[in-house]
Amino acid sequence: MTAPERLSLIAVVGARPNFMKIAPLLRAIDAWNARVQPGTPHIACRLVHTGQHYDHEMSNAFFAALDIPEPDLDLGIGSGSHAEQVGRTMIAFEQVLRERPADWVVVVGDVNATCACAITARKLHHRLAHIEAGLRSFDMRMPEEINRLVTDRLANLLFTTDAMADANLLREGMPAAAIHRVGNIMVDTLEQHRPHAEALDLEAILTRHAVEGRPPATALRPQKFAVLTLHRPANVDSRPAFTALVRTLTEIVAPHLPLVWVLHPRTRQRLHEFDLYHTVWNTPGIHVLNPVGYREMLRLNMACRLMLTDSGGLQEECCIFGTPCITLRDTTERPMTLLEHGGVSVLTGNDPDRIQQALRHHGQRDKAPHRPDGWDGHTAERIVTILAQTGTEHDRQHMDQKN
Ligand code: UD1
Repeated sequence: MTAPERLSLIAVVGARPNFMKIAPLLRAIDAWNARVQPGTPHIACRLVHTGQHYDHEMSNAFFAALDIPEPDLDLGIGSGSHAEQVGRTMIAFEQVLRERPADWVVVVGDVNATCACAITARKLHHRLAHIEAGLRSFDMRMPEEINRLVTDRLANLLFTTDAMADANLLREGMPAAAIHRVGNIMVDTLEQHRPHAEALDLEAILTRHAVEGRPPATALRPQKFAVLTLHRPANVDSRPAFTALVRTLTEIVAPHLPLVWVLHPRTRQRLHEFDLYHTVWNTPGIHVLNPVGYREMLRLNMACRLMLTDSGGLQEECCIFGTPCITLRDTTERPMTLLEHGGVSVLTGNDPDRIQQALRHHGQRDKAPHRPDGWDGHTAERIVTILAQTGTEHDRQHMDQKN
């Protein structure tokens, strides 16, 4: 078996949670190329941004902060229904692959861009690698669950974060040889940026990002406030559900502990649409911020006493920092983050009683970091080594037959 001299790869990003997962991969590829030996391939990587997230603060700011190079191509897909986003992405990505095919397409996470590019890649007979494979919420009403199932079924290489993800894939009949437990690539980014984040001034973050017309929450002191983020359709897209949740937040949570609410664009739209903005605005214990940068979010996580969120990535970051996390969902695809598996998070859905109970008990815990195996900051290096080793014709044929 001789390795090819050059391996071509297309790495895909689409939405904010993808950026922190692709940054370490690109860095590890550069490091690999810098010490390439005879017999090991040079890896030529192109970066494609589908443009699902496009606001400066949701996209460009992250490219700059995470030191991600300009994408080679931006497909400019933008907002739309799921079918619109997936359909437009597939059409545009097909063109990219037809014009210049690659040996591998690498997708990360579970957003619409992940699934759309996975389908397109395999239909054009490209080999597909999925980073963060095997996560399952077992909730088919989540668009991300459908994206995960489709992407994993199609992938030739499945890079997983933990043993529970491996078990999910094996149960679904994926071949063991395709599954590689490499750890959590997001932790690579977290560890790289942690020292810079630690040095950031909390007051400056609260001032810089305060929403227009609101006084900045400069009186907040470390460990004396909670951070809140919300964006899942189940929480914010239905008027009754979101209205009830806002009531819980304003009447139960904020009087207990001041809340720094970092607002996602989807959530901001819904607050306006459902006439909830003024209620939030007029609650003294709630401090609303526009989306913050990557390091700033890390700083808020370190500084807060408690996190309330429906984001999967934040659940994981809370584990590393040990921040108690009230997960405003009924299920999670990341069971590793839960208290019963050694993590820091409890599931409450948007149920007021469960939130109140979690606030009283879980919210009183001290910070206790939890670092699962392989969440060590070196996941990207392991992925690049496997990709390079798997780039032989022999392995390709083997994989193509298998799945
Ligand atoms: C997407 C992902 C979700 C991820 C989340 C993180 C899917 C199915 N969902 O959800 O898994 O956790 O990103 O942010 O892919 N918008 C802007 N500016 C932007 C991006 C979006 O204003 O830069 C608005 C758009 O009007 C859009 C809404 O936010 O309608 C939602 O964006 P969308 O990309 O559809 O999904 P997210 O809710 O962000």
